[in-house]
Amino acid sequence: MKTNIVNTASGKANVSALFFVKKSVQFSNVLSENAVTQVESVLNGMKDGPFEDLELLEIDGVSTIFVDAAKERGLSALDHLRMAAYRLAKRACKRQIPTVSIMLADAAPEQFKSILHGLHYADYKFDAYKSKQKDAFQVTFEIVAGEQVAEFKKIAEEVAVEHKAVVLAKNLINTCASDLTPAEFVDNANTIAKYTPGLSIKVRNMKQLEKEGFMGLVTVGKGSSHEPYMITLNYDGTKPARKGAAKVAAKSAKIADKNARTSADHLVLVGKGLTFDTGGLCLKPPKSMPEMISDMSGAATVLAAIQAIATLELPIKVSTVCCLAENAIGFKSVLPGDIFKAKNGKTVMVDNTDAEGRLVLSDGLAEAGEIGATHIIDIATLTGAMVRALGYAVAGFFCNDDDLGLKVINGGEACCEKFWSMPLEEEYADALKDKFADLKNTGSDAGAIAAALFLQEFVPENTAWAHWDIAGTAFVNKTWKYTEYGATGFGVQTLIELARRMSKADEESIENDAVVSEDEYKVC
Ligand code: BES
Ligand code: ZN
Ligand code: ZN
Repeated sequence: MKTNIVNTASGKANVSALFFVKKSVQFSNVLSENAVTQVESVLNGMKDGPFEDLELLEIDGVSTIFVDAAKERGLSALDHLRMAAYRLAKRACKRQIPTVSIMLADAAPEQFKSILHGLHYADYKFDAYKSKQKDAFQVTFEIVAGEQVAEFKKIAEEVAVEHKAVVLAKNLINTCASDLTPAEFVDNANTIAKYTPGLSIKVRNMKQLEKEGFMGLVTVGKGSSHEPYMITLNYDGTKPARKGAAKVAAKSAKIADKNARTSADHLVLVGKGLTFDTGGLCLKPPKSMPEMISDMSGAATVLAAIQAIATLELPIKVSTVCCLAENAIGFKSVLPGDIFKAKNGKTVMVDNTDAEGRLVLSDGLAEAGEIGATHIIDIATLTGAMVRALGYAVAGFFCNDDDLGLKVINGGEACCEKFWSMPLEEEYADALKDKFADLKNTGSDAGAIAAALFLQEFVPENTAWAHWDIAGTAFVNKTWKYTEYGATGFGVQTLIELARRMSKADEESIENDAVVSEDEYKVC
């Protein structure tokens, strides 16, 4: 896919695309009067139900493809645009149409951004394991932007960076576990750190983890022939050397920078990185096992996000901690009933070896505290209970800070990623207590809440914290929106957006954009 952002239509495109909602055409101010009349008569000519999606008609001598921008149920207006653009790109590719022009002169910047994301999604394919790789037909999209050419070009650059990160996360998640061991993940992170200016990396292996008391990772990882690792990546967009770049980024994010200040926040993103989860000695049933190649989605998501945040030079301090291990069966595997001492000194009895994610994350949270986090977001394919509660379309999150919680919901909304606030229900906290140890790694029947309450025991004091359980949203077995099968890349864009919002110079400019107001949202 190629995009060409132009002021007015070149007239050379093979097909022109028009988005419509019910009977009204969207973004039409560049159409000739004649075309407007014809389009209106086509759309008004509909008798029963909506006009056929992706219908090709001759309008004022131009071959025009009509794209329904309200086809699916339950999506936001921005997500409808992503889907419409995605379907358009798929159709154009299938029909081998070389150039499609899209009339977006009167589209808002965020609408254009959504459309562009939709076009990018249509480009993704994971054929690394196919014996024959086919080159997809390349469609060029001519974006008719009118007066907004300069702004749209800037947005297109940002979207390209964001989407590169989404693709990185998806590729890592889709790669099978024997090819993406913790060590291979480290190799990938090293390469990213090497080629991304401003990123530094620290890697701890099994021996170092043991020496420093990161026993969650050691306990889970020791049963595998592939040793566990912890990766810490650091990016500091507030450093004087990066101030110029930071200002540009703030501007490009359409943030008023009159009273520009660099953020004092240190956002630390912690990712669960189980390159495979057999369940350990509490073995998973075969049916639910293949999907466990995606149990490192949290780590892939935070790695991808920091790559984009550094590339965009956002003026904020961000670190990511990837907690990498393989939950396997071996002669050294942790035994149910074993007790270990976590990094923060609390002792934990391993009641169920399949509840391993919270154990490795205890180390990630401790590391976040050690490097001075003011805000922590941990991201994990943590519980089957979350899949049952919210399914594949909505991620549940738990949060100890109203302001951060609001940013998660609104940031997600801007990126077409749905989040639902879940309660850190104190009434279930006692169920985590163990007879011998301070805690055990299972709790009440409310499995997702139990896991979040366990994690809360390891959150450093006075730190704003959110836990995202992406077990349902990270990987899909059937087509969902712009993912046919496999990794969705869920969370990457919201993390970038959160960093952008936290780094913003003018608090109000974002709050005005808020989709959910503070009154409507309260952390339970
Ligand atoms: N990785 C799984 C959670 C999961 C389930 C992710 C489905 C993606 C799809 C996690 O490690 C796990 O097995 N959790 C157990 C915990 C239980 C034993 C307390 C679960 O949720 O069943
Ligand atoms: Zn597990
Ligand atoms: Zn797991």
